[in-house]
Order: sequence, then structure tokens, then C-alpha cells
Amino acid sequence: METENKTPTAEAMEMSHSDLSEQIKVVTRDSHLRAENTPLMLSYQKGHVTLEQYKLLLCSLQHIYEALEDVMEENSSHPGVAPIYFPAELARREMVEADLEYFYGQDWRQKVVVPKATERYAHRLRQIGRENPEFLVAHAYTRYLGDLSGGQMLGRITQKCLGLKNGKGLGLGFFSFPNVTNHNLFKQLYRSRMNSVELTEEQRTGMLEEAVLSFELNIQVFNELQDIESRMQKEADLQTHTSQEKLLNDTLQISSDLITSAPLFKMLLGLCVALATVCTGIYAF
Ligand code: HEM
Repeated sequence: METENKTPTAEAMEMSHSDLSEQIKVVTRDSHLRAENTPLMLSYQKGHVTLEQYKLLLCSLQHIYEALEDVMEENSSHPGVAPIYFPAELARREMVEADLEYFYGQDWRQKVVVPKATERYAHRLRQIGRENPEFLVAHAYTRYLGDLSGGQMLGRITQKCLGLKNGKGLGLGFFSFPNVTNHNLFKQLYRSRMNSVELTEEQRTGMLEEAVLSFELNIQVFNELQDIESRMQKEADLQTHTSQEKLLNDTLQISSDLITSAPLFKMLLGLCVALATVCTGIYAF
């Protein structure tokens, strides 16, 4: 079939009279599937979430939302941003920072870990904010609609796995949107606002490419976080193994010290051997 070899961007551009929200969904379909299937997201979906994993994720999300929300605010009156600017409903930075304070204490800023892929993502957001603010929709869409969709499921899993309480500043605030009463209705409103943004064909193509890049940057963040978590796990296993080995060596050392140096122990051992030999002899007769 003719459509089978088309790239998602080409397929979306053929829908030239369609809405941006539809085109962006088509163009990022494969990327969404890849994001869902990253080891970190798969581990989430299986209900395997460790506190360390979640804390690391929150550190990256803070860095990402700090950049995204800074540039959204700076460009809030730009015609490509104003229609989708919903800070009261969507802003995540304050929520995620309250969660970080819950886990790391007031000096969380000194303790957060920001991997390279997260730095790259934040760097791209700031660059787009300076050079092509009309493409910010692509990034805001990827993060906020994602948080309002599959993100809600991740929140429920985190709560179940880690036994956290809902509410701002209790560790799970990131997933809650107190000012969005109906998520589906809000997503519909958001899509219609996206569709109201006027774009030239060139801008539209750029926007669709930016949406794919946005997913790609997220995938890189998840992969790096998973690598860090695996390394931490290996180090912890190695430490446990080393301390078990040390305990065993110490025990063996004590036993051998006893055998070689304690005369009373030697005498007792000799007596036991002699007694055992005599008993065996008696039993044999
Ligand atoms: C465990 C992983 C994930 C699952 C299970 C999941 C699931 C879903 C589901 C079921 C929807 C459709 C919701 C609806 O139609 O109302 C959705 C939408 C969406 N997801 Fe995900 N998702 C996951 C990860 C991600 C990630 C990592 C991102 C981006 C970083 C993302 C971004 C989005 C976006 C932007 C939408 C809105 C699509 C649209 O309506 O145009 N998702 N997700």
C-alpha cells in the first residue's frame, strides 16, 4: 500500500486540513509506543517502582518543568503560546518541588541529581523558548497531556508501590491537578486551543518534528534514569555481597585462630577425637 512507507510526519502533513491536535497524535504515535516500552515505563507498568527510582524521576521532572514553565511564562503573550497557557490548571513545578522537599528536606536543591539527558532536554526547551516560541506547544502537549493521561496511571502505581498519601507536599503531588476537575474535558479544551493556533505550513512541519523530538528527549531521560538505577542496584548488591563475604571470612578467621592458638580448645578437640575413636571401637565389638 502507498501509505505503508510514509514517515509519520509525511502522513500527518497529508492530513493538511486536519487539526493540529490530530496531526500531532499521528506523528507521535510510534514515539509514544517507544516511550511506553522503555525499561523504566515497563517496570512501572509491572508495578515495580522503588523509592530511589521515583526520587530520581522527580529530580529530572523538576529540572524539566522549571525550564518548560520558565519559557512558557516568558512567552505567555506570544500568539502561539497564549491559547495553551494554563498555569493555574497545569503548572507542575511547585508540585514537584514540594514532593522533593518531602523526600530530601528543605535543602533538596543541594541533593538533586540531574543526569545529562535531562540537562539536554532542559537546554532544548530554553533554546526553543528563545528561538521558536511557537514550537512550545509541541513540548507542552507532550508533557501536560501525557501527565493527564498515562501519567495518572503512573501516579496510582506509585501510590500503591510506595504507600504514599495523596496531596501536595506528601510525595505524590506531581500527579495531582487540583484545578482540573474533569481530565477528559480539559484535554478536549486543550486540543481545541491547540487547533486555534495559526501556523504556516513550514511552521506546522517544524512543530510536528519538534513533537517527535520532545518524545525522543523524554525517552533519553527515562533510559538514563534506568541506567543510573541499575548501577545503584548493582553497587548495593555488591556491597551486600562484600559484607556477607567479610562476615564469612571473619568467622572463618576466628575459628582458625581458635584452633591454632587456644591450647584448651586443642586439648578438648583431642579429647573428643579420642572419645569418638574409643566409642567406635566399643560399638564395633
Ligand atoms: C507507562 C507509560 C504510558 C502509558 C501506559 C500511557 C498511556 C496513555 C494513554 C492510554 C493515553 C490516551 C489517553 C486518552 O486518549 O485520553 C495516552 C495519551 C498520551 N500520552 Fe501516554 N502513556 C504512557 C507514557 C507516556 C509518556 C512517557 C509520554 C510523554 C513523555 C506520554 C504522552 C502522552 C500524550 C501527549 C498523550 C495525549 C495523546 C493525545 O490525545 O493526543 N505518554 N497515554
